[in-house]
Amino acid sequence: MIESRGVTRVYTSGPVEVAALKDIDLFISSGEMVAIMGPSGCGKTTLLNCLSGLDEVTSGEVVVEGTSLAKMSDADRTRYRARRMGFIFQAFNLLPVFSAVENAELPMLLVGERAKEARRRSMQALEIVGLSPRAAHRPAELSGGEQQRVAIARAIAHGPAVLWADEPTGNLDTENASMIIDLLVRLNRETGLTVVMVTHDPVIGSRANRVITMKDGRIVVPDDLPEDEPAEEESAEVAKPKSKPKGKKVSSRKRS
Ligand SMILES: Nc1ncnc2c1ncn2[C@@H]1O[C@H](COP(=O)(O)OP(=O)(O)OP(=O)(O)O)[C@@H](O)[C@H]1O
Ligand SMILES: [Mg+2]
Repeated sequence: MIESRGVTRVYTSGPVEVAALKDIDLFISSGEMVAIMGPSGCGKTTLLNCLSGLDEVTSGEVVVEGTSLAKMSDADRTRYRARRMGFIFQAFNLLPVFSAVENAELPMLLVGERAKEARRRSMQALEIVGLSPRAAHRPAELSGGEQQRVAIARAIAHGPAVLWADEPTGNLDTENASMIIDLLVRLNRETGLTVVMVTHDPVIGSRANRVITMKDGRIVVPDDLPEDEPAEEESAEVAKPKSKPKGKKVSSRKRS
């Protein structure tokens, strides 16, 4: 559904060139839930933005649902995003003067949806995230976790095919983070929504079907790495399960 072919992104500011993405090949199928992980500055946000068409690639190509993003006009790309994609970020980005239902319906109104239909869909989305009773509340009257759920309602209300999430739990405590990831998993499983999320948190990442690990602008662990092939050393920090102290025998399950 989303394909990246030899994607490179070079940022130029003055004399300095930063290659944020280097030759990224990637395929994400419809209905997948993918986590992108890796150290700060390795290019996760850049990858998400290039795949979703928020940012332009320097070379290579991103193909989404059979169409090359670069071949669309700016207006077509914007329309396509508004129709088929939803976005959530670390900051909830809700407008403080609007209620939850108004925040969630706003993007639909901006692309010309009828007010009544936008309201219906917005209420439906709030129902899905479990916040119908808070529809009239403003962001300041909601907890962080609730605000992110409103942001998710806003991202899914128009019925997108893919949800892009850049550190969706980054501003939340463990309990709220776990509620948000539960919700994303449920949306993925129950509605077939494709979810692509960036996260620093291995616990959150482990809930995805697949983890893509990046380092220095490259993908370092191909998902289909055969099990008997040793993982690259650089992937170890994320892929490695916590090792037990050496020399300690694994206790037998039998109890005396
Ligand atoms: N607009 C920009 N102009 C110049 N350099 C940029 C720009 N955006 C990102 N970069 C650089 O590109 C590299 C990748 O940045 P990116 O934001 O994708 O990293 P990240 O993996 O999302 O990091 P973090 O985990 O801290 O959010 C970094 O070296 C960053 O400094
Ligand atoms: Mg980032």
